[in-house]
Amino acid sequence: MREILLILLILFFNSKTFADDKIDLGLEIYKNKAQCGACHTLKAAESEGEIGPNLDMIKPQMDQIIYAVRNGIGVMPSWEGILTPKEIEAVAYYVFTSTSK
Ligand code: HEC
Repeated sequence: MREILLILLILFFNSKTFADDKIDLGLEIYKNKAQCGACHTLKAAESEGEIGPNLDMIKPQMDQIIYAVRNGIGVMPSWEGILTPKEIEAVAYYVFTSTSK
């Protein structure tokens, strides 16, 4: 019984660190590498761009964000080949988790 609890505890902490890493990477990309904040408002990232829609208002779905970042949409450029797939996923995860509360 003890062993099982220990394993569960380790699993729990591991997945938590993993999610935190992804959020940190996503925030870094949002703020610096892709500068999404230049065009978007997102309270969690303290950005107030007004060229694109306010992300807190539209609360985009995960696949919607990935699609927009990968292919571009309207004035928004495509980040395909600029961000790695892992970075696109991280920034989408970041935007999704910080707007879907
Ligand atoms: C040059 C300004 C600009 C930058 C930089 C930018 N966007 Fe956008 N974004 C826009 C505009 C404009 C739209 C609305 C496009 C339309 O609907 O025609 C948009 C739309 C979106 C949408 C909504 C897509 C939909 O399906 O309606 C999401 C989500 C999004 N952007 C996320 C991001 C993320 C994440 C980043 C950073 C990787 C980013 N944007 C960077 C201008 C920008």
